[in-house]
Amino acid sequence: MKNLIYSIALCFLFISCSEDADDTYYSPIPPEPTPEVVPEFLPNLSELNLFTENLTDLTPSDRAFIYDLNTPLFTDYAHKQRLIALPEGTSMEYVDDGFPNFPDNTVIAKTFYYFNNERDESEGKILVETRILIKQNGVWELGNYKWNAEQTDAVLDNTTSTVPLSYLNTNGETVNLDYVIPSAQQCIDCHNSNNIIKPIGPKLRSINSNHQLEDWISNNYLTNLTDASQVGVLPNWEDAVNYSLEERARAYFDMNCAHCHSDGGFCQDQSYLRLTYETPLADSYIFEDRINIDARMSFYYQGFTMPLIGTTILHPEGYDLVSQYLDSL
Ligand code: HEC
Ligand code: HEC
Repeated sequence: MKNLIYSIALCFLFISCSEDADDTYYSPIPPEPTPEVVPEFLPNLSELNLFTENLTDLTPSDRAFIYDLNTPLFTDYAHKQRLIALPEGTSMEYVDDGFPNFPDNTVIAKTFYYFNNERDESEGKILVETRILIKQNGVWELGNYKWNAEQTDAVLDNTTSTVPLSYLNTNGETVNLDYVIPSAQQCIDCHNSNNIIKPIGPKLRSINSNHQLEDWISNNYLTNLTDASQVGVLPNWEDAVNYSLEERARAYFDMNCAHCHSDGGFCQDQSYLRLTYETPLADSYIFEDRINIDARMSFYYQGFTMPLIGTTILHPEGYDLVSQYLDSL
């Protein structure tokens, strides 16, 4: 009986609503709030809410922001989009020129893609993988999302695989690549420092260009710092106008080699090389090891060529810079 009364009441409610709708009064549809980023490794990339609805465009959600590095890492000429999403109401905290303190539930994402035609981006992208780091309870966890053939979403999959792809480069030549997606163990090889998984790129001195640090401060992404000029700048290895050969070569080593060739890094016991930008030349072993460095970068042989993982082809532009620098020593 009670249910019946409710049903009748509900009926009236609907009728009166629909009558209202026929009237001149329309209530505006309130904008949907941007969904929060989900700091968990859910099965599909779309479920993390890092991007707006059409994932293929890689348009970041209002809750995430793009950052670029002063000096790029070479990975078979892939383009990369890097995003940070901080939980609502939190910030990164300045410590020094290195990493800021990231709040728990920070998500950092890096998407690797190629343009079908480097000369005409409107011909679309080939999305390959979106690598993710999430800080959960003070510990960075990592996971990888592989893009599906339809390029509509990416699926969590931490196994290695080879993706054959081809694109037109800036010279209009077809490039065929067997792109290798790293395994979870390989992620750890590069991302661990003294057996702790860490980010590599977003040291403040490595993003201090193009007003990024100023933007981080003014948007409250970064606290505990008011003046970006207090932070050093890792040179852009491609900028021969503003930086010396040595600065550029050392910056190249920093971004492409130092995550393994440093104290606590993957090959600390197998090589004397210490390639972090701040390591003085005398302690870096670069001069003593110049013949080996040259050999490891001048021809491609898998398991010998450096960087040991993360690339499947040589980097002639990087080698050109490094060999000029080694010759100058
Ligand atoms: C060959 C070494 C190497 C491997 C393997 C590697 N990374 Fe990285 N990764 C780097 C370097 C160097 C950077 C910083 C440069 C950049 O952002 O391009 C980086 C950046 C990132 C970033 C952006 C935040 C940061 O740490 O700078 C994420 C997220 C990431 N990697 C996740 C992963 C995941 C997940 C895997 C495994 C699927 C992986 N990486 C494998 C070297 C590696
Ligand atoms: C993914 C980790 C990793 C990265 C990145 C990496 N290396 Fe290595 N490197 C190793 C390991 C492991 C060894 C020891 C095994 C061997 O000799 O192949 C090594 C050995 C070397 C050696 C021979 C040993 C020595 O000290 O003479 C040279 C030279 C070298 N690396 C240079 C470089 C340079 C230059 C880069 C950047 C362009 C680089 N590596 C990037 C892991 C790495």
